[in-house]
Formats: sequence, structure tokens, C-alpha cells
Amino acid sequence: MQSIIRLEHVNFAYAEIPVLTDVNLSIQPNEFIGIIGPNGGGKTTFLKLLMGFLKPTSGKIEILAYPQVSRYHISYVPQNQRFDRDFPISVLELVLSGRLFKLPWYGKFSNEDKEIAREALSQVGLSDFANRPIGTLSGGQAQRALIARALASHPKLLLLDEPTANVDSQAQAEIYELLHQLQGKMAILMVTHDLSTAIEHVERVLLIQNHVMQLKPEEVCQHFAVGLYHTPLIQVPREKL
Ligand SMILES: Nc1ncnc2c1ncn2[C@@H]1O[C@H](COP(=O)(O)OP(=O)(O)OP(=O)(O)O)[C@@H](O)[C@H]1O
Ligand SMILES: [Mg+2]
Repeated sequence: MQSIIRLEHVNFAYAEIPVLTDVNLSIQPNEFIGIIGPNGGGKTTFLKLLMGFLKPTSGKIEILAYPQVSRYHISYVPQNQRFDRDFPISVLELVLSGRLFKLPWYGKFSNEDKEIAREALSQVGLSDFANRPIGTLSGGQAQRALIARALASHPKLLLLDEPTANVDSQAQAEIYELLHQLQGKMAILMVTHDLSTAIEHVERVLLIQNHVMQLKPEEVCQHFAVGLYHTPLIQVPREKL
């Protein structure tokens, strides 16, 4: 099967500081990939390179399956977005902003755009919240609204940067359930620190710490066991040290 996106010998540095070194990988349609790695390892930078927000210092990132429309088919749910409680837009308007790339010069969303935004809200279970100001949503609901915005552009590749950070375990379970439902409909790359929950669904794991190492889910624990990467999975309570 033809891959959607391919990276060849990609290097990236902020100013002189190298963050990613010699990254080579391909992403297949409908794959579900988990991304792990230490803080500052380069995970968010990696997603921004895929989005085209950053350009490689050297090497090549090719979008293969959709050359004409390219990056419109990639959606991104950023890390740690917080809404101002008083920010005066509704949940539906937030989701509609995922259709901005379709907006004509006179700046009016079509009925089709609105229909697609409502569908995306229904997909994430927030239909009843369409007219609520975004500032009134709980953390978990806000995260699902952001996923709905990403879905509103009908992506082939969905990038999520720690979608379950700062939400409670109930909201976390709902987000994983939602991603499980999306699995197979688009390629999904998810940065996560709680791989213990995510691991049952992911097909491949990328460990990013300057280099990108590709792992099968069942290999992850072996690597943790040799101390290559520490997550809450293997952290020893301090009193036992
Ligand atoms: N705009 C920037 N300018 C300079 N350095 C940056 C910039 N953004 C990130 N960095 C540095 O690049 C490195 C990788 O950062 P990145 O945000 O990609 O890590 P991460 O793996 O997402 O970390 P975390 O788990 O904390 O989110 C870090 O050392 C960070 O300080
Ligand atoms: Mg990050």
C-alpha cells in the first residue's frame, strides 16, 4: 500500500540546537501510531514538521497520497490548549473554524460547512453543546471539541499531542473510546504519556528522543525494562527507592 507521508534523512534544529536527527519513516493509510518519549525529546517538534509549521533543516518530507491537496488532509490537535472562560465563541463556531481552509474570500461558511461541523460534534458526543460558549466546557469536553474541529476538515492524517493530558480518568476513557472509533478511518498519530491505556489499540510506537526509534507495541515494555524510557508504567514509588 502506498504510504501517505514519508520522511527521509530528516534533521531539525532550533537555531543551532539539534532536536531531531536522521529521521526515516513512512506512515501508512489508517495506521494508529503511538508516540512516546521524554520531555523535550522532540515529539511536538516532530508533529509540527509533519504539519508543515516547521521546515526540516535538511532531508525531505513528502506527502505522497494526495499531492494536489497535500496538507489540507492533515489535522492537528495541539498540546495544552486552554480556553479563556470569557472567549465569546460557541462550540459550533470553534468546530467550524476547522473548515476555514474552505472559506471563500467573502468569508461566510456554507450550509454544507455547518452540516459537517454538526456531524463532527455528533461524532465526539457533543451535539447538545453546540451553542454553549467554549469557556464553559470541562477539560475533557473541550478536548473532544478540539478533536471535532480537527475532524471537520475530513483529515487523512490526524495528529494529537497529548490529548488526555490534564483530564480526569473518565474523560480520558471517553477520548480513547472516540479514537478507537476513528481507528481505521484515517491515520492517527498520538503523542501520549499514558501508553499503558493506549497500547491495546496502537499498531506501532515511535519513541522520540532526538532519534526516532520504531517499536512494535509488544516491544515497548522490554525497552522500558532496560531503562531506555521511563513512564509511569515502570516508575518506582519514591518510598521504595
Ligand atoms: N520554538 C523553540 N525554539 C527553541 N527551542 C525550542 C522551541 N520549541 C521547542 N524547543 C526545544 O526543542 C526541544 C524539543 O521540544 P519539543 O517541544 O518538541 O519536545 P516534546 O518531546 O514535545 O516535550 P514535552 O513532552 O515536554 O511536550 C526541547 O529542548 C525544547 O526546549
Ligand atoms: Mg510536546
